[in-house]
Amino acid sequence: MSRIAYVNGRYLEHSNAVVHVEDRGYQFADGVYEVCEIARGFIIDVTRHLDRLERSLSELGIIRPMHRSALELILKEVVRRNRVLNGLVYLQITRGVARRDHPFPKANVRPAMVVTAKRIDPEVLSLKAGRGIKVITVPDNRWERVDIKTIGLLPNVLARQKAIEEGADDAWFVDPDGTVKEGSASNAWIVTPQGQLVTRPAESGILRGVTRTTVLDVVAKLGMTFEERPFTVEEATNAREAFVTSASAVVMPVVAINSVAVANGHPGSVSCSLRDAFFDVAEKTQP
Ligand code: PDD
Repeated sequence: MSRIAYVNGRYLEHSNAVVHVEDRGYQFADGVYEVCEIARGFIIDVTRHLDRLERSLSELGIIRPMHRSALELILKEVVRRNRVLNGLVYLQITRGVARRDHPFPKANVRPAMVVTAKRIDPEVLSLKAGRGIKVITVPDNRWERVDIKTIGLLPNVLARQKAIEEGADDAWFVDPDGTVKEGSASNAWIVTPQGQLVTRPAESGILRGVTRTTVLDVVAKLGMTFEERPFTVEEATNAREAFVTSASAVVMPVVAINSVAVANGHPGSVSCSLRDAFFDVAEKTQP
């Protein structure tokens, strides 16, 4: 079956889905995006993703190209047309197409929007979660507005590539004070030796992950205790467990940091319970 993408008002064959050379996303990374998980035929946490999208757009002064309900309809339509039961749906909005010049184009330039969907074998993902992932740490060299989900992801791409080249799976950005910010495309968590969950406050130089927010709901439901505070790489290495959260990985145990095993080097029970309980707690929308 061929893949279908939505591009500026049209549903196109993936191979013919192209944007203009002067799209400001292409030339300036002048745009925002969202990635939603699709699990067992449902789009997960679409309300929170669209809330964050609206915030990102408004922080950058990009006009929402259409009513929110129309955005949601297109997301659903792309998932349906691609018959994705498990995978991801990607939505990107840029400031539009205009002759290359740094200032914002005139008000009559419409934002450009693209939506794609892809399948991911849930079995592959759960096998990965059963093994856990290895991370390296890198200095955080991103701009200060990482709270906005922009398509300007070059530091994230370089960090992830470095991790792969060093035989790891992901990279954690670290502040000069030694505290962990977040992963290249995920939020970072630990479970302390006393059994307390810790994750960095969303107001302190990270993206407020939708999965992070829903995992906090799961934490409340399971009656676990948690604290939002920064933690150091050293504390994470000596933790009982470490894991990351994101729409693409849900809850993914971290079993080594800079080649040092976390606890016994195997996924811990807290990350596994959070992963197991996530689907029930999350918002599920039929495409
Ligand atoms: N990334 N931090 C960063 C820098 C991210 O890029 C992401 C998501 C997250 C987690 O956010 P959420 O739980 O809403 O997915 C945190 C997506 C999945 C990506 O770029 O593919």
